[in-house]
Amino acid sequence: MAPPTPPPSPSAAEAAGVAQAAALLRSGGLVAFPTETVYGLGADATNEPAVRRIFTAKGRPEDHPLIVHLASGADVARWAVDVSPVAERLMAAFWPGPLTVVLRRRPGQLSAATGGRDSVGLRVPDHSLALALLAAVEVPVAAPSANRFGRVSPTSAVDVRAELGDLVDLILDGGPSRVGVESTIIELLGPVPLLLRPGGVPLEAIEDVAGARVEQVLVGPARASGMLASHYAPTVTVELVAGGDLALRAEAMQARGCSVAVLAPQTPNDLPVGVTVLAPPADAADYARCLYRRLREAEEAGVDVLLAVAPSSQGLGRAVADRLARAAAPRPDGHTP
Ligand code: TXA
Ligand code: MG
Repeated sequence: MAPPTPPPSPSAAEAAGVAQAAALLRSGGLVAFPTETVYGLGADATNEPAVRRIFTAKGRPEDHPLIVHLASGADVARWAVDVSPVAERLMAAFWPGPLTVVLRRRPGQLSAATGGRDSVGLRVPDHSLALALLAAVEVPVAAPSANRFGRVSPTSAVDVRAELGDLVDLILDGGPSRVGVESTIIELLGPVPLLLRPGGVPLEAIEDVAGARVEQVLVGPARASGMLASHYAPTVTVELVAGGDLALRAEAMQARGCSVAVLAPQTPNDLPVGVTVLAPPADAADYARCLYRRLREAEEAGVDVLLAVAPSSQGLGRAVADRLARAAAPRPDGHTP
């Protein structure tokens, strides 16, 4: 594996925040921190009571395994066994970065963070503050996205505060998330790599490096909680529409008395008056970066319905289309927001 790249040095203020965050983590606290994908809600992955606090704060079922964040790929052998050559190649190519690999867990290690499974999801994030924190704390950090269970992931410190308020001991502010959707999760336990969640590393890039086809796992009773059909649900009703149908659909919704917002790469010029037009994403990467912020803007605007046009399902567009489909899926409790 390639030697880890040293993170750029944080400013004095950032360094003080990192030191405070590391101390809190070491004493069993909860710290929200920035990553390149979304903000994470971190706890010492080797400290069982600390890990339990994550589940309480999020309102997340305790059998959901958490991603464990490492300072560098050099640490993998401490936490995982049977690491295949394909896994080695993927980690070397994409770490630090938005890739989580699910590997065989080293017996006796990290069982609290993995809900007792014999596998563990590991990732080295590509964000200077996250890397500085992970290096300072010197333990692996379990961190799901820093939102309440089933809610939209936060891509800024302000969004974390809105989600978790005082349930978190400290929020490190690292600015808006650069990638904006969660990491790609690849399970590498058997002969065929499995895509558990599309994310910040395009599937095509992973297949190139793996030199193998990656099998896509269909939505089902969650292997990955991000795979629950209605995960990432905003409180506004999201409806996916084709670009060419936007104007008609908006009119029909308004005729039913619904207020409407639109999120689309191209804004049609025949939208009816009164529709809230959210800033259009420039391309798939921009769509990924702004998606969760736009979903929150639709909530904040208080509209009844968000009509969204998905990007084509290639490259980063695959993760965006996936999250939009989940945001639009009916909730298991039948609740329509
Ligand atoms: O980009 C990300 O991955 C962000 C940032 C904070 O790193 N984290 C994130 O965590 O999205 P979370 O907990 O919201 O999603 C983690 C996903 C869950 O769907 C979980 O089921 C899956 O990873 N996961 C973790 N360990 C696993 C394992 N051993 N086997 C299968 N799935 C696993
Ligand atoms: Mg999440």
